[in-house]
Amino acid sequence: DKGNHRHFMEKEIHEQPEVISHTLAHYVDFANVTVKNFESPIDFARIDRLSISACGTAYLAGLIGKYWFERYARLPVDIDIASEFRYREMPISKNSAAMFVSQSGETADTLASLRYCKNEGVPIASIVNVRDSTIARESNGIFPTLAGPEIGVASTKAFTCQLSIFASLAVRAGLDRGTLTKDQASTLIRELSEVPRLVREASKLEDKIEKIARKLSEVRHVLYLGRDTSYPLAMEGALKLKEISYIHAEGYAAGELKHGPIALIDKHMPVIVIAPYDRIFEKTVSNMQEVAARGGQIILITDEEGASRASLGDIETIIMPKVPEFVTPIVYALPIQLLAYHTAVAMGTDVDQPRNLAKSVTVE
Ligand code: F6R
Repeated sequence: DKGNHRHFMEKEIHEQPEVISHTLAHYVDFANVTVKNFESPIDFARIDRLSISACGTAYLAGLIGKYWFERYARLPVDIDIASEFRYREMPISKNSAAMFVSQSGETADTLASLRYCKNEGVPIASIVNVRDSTIARESNGIFPTLAGPEIGVASTKAFTCQLSIFASLAVRAGLDRGTLTKDQASTLIRELSEVPRLVREASKLEDKIEKIARKLSEVRHVLYLGRDTSYPLAMEGALKLKEISYIHAEGYAAGELKHGPIALIDKHMPVIVIAPYDRIFEKTVSNMQEVAARGGQIILITDEEGASRASLGDIETIIMPKVPEFVTPIVYALPIQLLAYHTAVAMGTDVDQPRNLAKSVTVE
């Protein structure tokens, strides 16, 4: 039931404050500054490496998970696209563990990667949205996302719930490994608790985003840029856009711009930049200047501080609420989802059932 929404995707985007809140409440003990319901087969204190594999949007959630595990728990993470991992015959160290991420829990390549790791004898934990799925059954333990059924083919609420779990696990791993003090963990946990409210605030930008989307629906190519955790998010923005609006979009690390993609920039190829004001904001601004100098149109997703410091003249800006750096990718998922959604609506594509795509990819 779509309720009073035009599409399941729209409904699922707007459910995010609630389902993220459920997922966080399940895993985070806000009062006691710890991560609960942690029947993990993985002992984060004892492993020296973690391998994460998944496909599509779930892979991009894992990539953001890597940034968090490495930053807060000092745990090195290998992240792979499952269809590559399954055939790569990667040597698996005995002191490692493996995680898999899958909304459906049925993705063939992810399942095959899981079986490879199982065969190597390392502990396996999966983040799944469907608890009685094959991936859930074959894992040693699961971290369920409490997103509820996701009907729209393009993943939205499952993604932000996957991120909520990775964020919680990174804090737990940081505590277990002694890389976060109780005080530091308590700050991060407080920041996590603000996510549902911030996501709700971000969704209020919908009218502005819809206006930008109408213009976006007239172009054929889009470049998405970001640094740090905004880089996987740029790839997610590009994936969402190509899936449902059929506009060719590429997500790049902003620092890669001058190593190739800058050759594409002209007035017909808008560049969407995800750049909250943070310690590397100035680096991204210089990339934007390179784009502007070549006549590229910029759509900047940032906060007040970033908007006032960007000083790039006449560019489109989506001004987000101020978000703590840790939880930025969860909150900034909103504008990129809404941008893809409204662009597709403006183009009149079948948003919930995009051509050539299936919700669950059970063949390789
Ligand atoms: C993108 C999308 C796909 C899935 C991918 C993995 O919007 O939905 O990229 O993320 O097919 O699916 P699951 O998570 O079911 O393994």
